[in-house]
Amino acid sequence: MSSFVDTHGHLYAEEFDSDRDEVVARALAQGVETIILPDIDSSTRERMYKLEAEYKDNMYALIGVHPTSIKEDYKQEIRLVEKELLQRNFIGVGEIGLDYYWDTSMRDEQIYSFEYQLGLAQDLHLPVVIHSRKSIDDIFISLKRFSGVQGILHCFPGDTNHAKRAIDMGFKIGVGGVVTFKNAKLAEVVKEIGVENIVLETDAPYLTPAPHRGKRNESSYIPIIGNFIAELTEQPIEQVAQITTNNAKSLFKI
Ligand code: NI
Repeated sequence: MSSFVDTHGHLYAEEFDSDRDEVVARALAQGVETIILPDIDSSTRERMYKLEAEYKDNMYALIGVHPTSIKEDYKQEIRLVEKELLQRNFIGVGEIGLDYYWDTSMRDEQIYSFEYQLGLAQDLHLPVVIHSRKSIDDIFISLKRFSGVQGILHCFPGDTNHAKRAIDMGFKIGVGGVVTFKNAKLAEVVKEIGVENIVLETDAPYLTPAPHRGKRNESSYIPIIGNFIAELTEQPIEQVAQITTNNAKSLFKI
């Protein structure tokens, strides 16, 4: 059986409180042997660490303040991230980024926080996982200031030109359930750039792939996304699994 990496699963979220162990067991049974846990903010961090410790052979926590968590106390949140990054080892910084979809009132603070965390990643030579919504141009403006920083553009929101620009900067394109949605622009992007430039992700509990769309997402659905991409790019699923798994593991050095 092929082995997969879910590069983006919030399995510590409350949505999994009633059956988390079964969710993980289903993922492992499907060959999803590695799950990266992206951070949100200080309110979810303890839960994330606890889950990572329970599944230390399979899970890796990232650290970073999510753009929708940038509120009045953002400086305090960022200080906490910096402190923790210096205290223990992490495989990456995330998820960080810019989200102008829900709220633009904290735009300047979001940019400040994003760039501060890019700077931490640059200093520590860590990859970043970037969340971008209605903000792709500003993401590139910030990234240009931090040369050498590589990572994943999670839930990739751009077109093929954006993707190529990101790939040139050393980034992988995070592809999840959205690629299975009808008329998804992302499917065209994947066809153009090829599996060599992508990693698989769920963003569980969100963004569930077809045919489960509308229900809770979970890491065991990674092979559904992989199969969709295999058909899209006309190659065996085993090859998609192997290439995307290697991409994820070499990026995070795991
Ligand atoms: Ni996420």
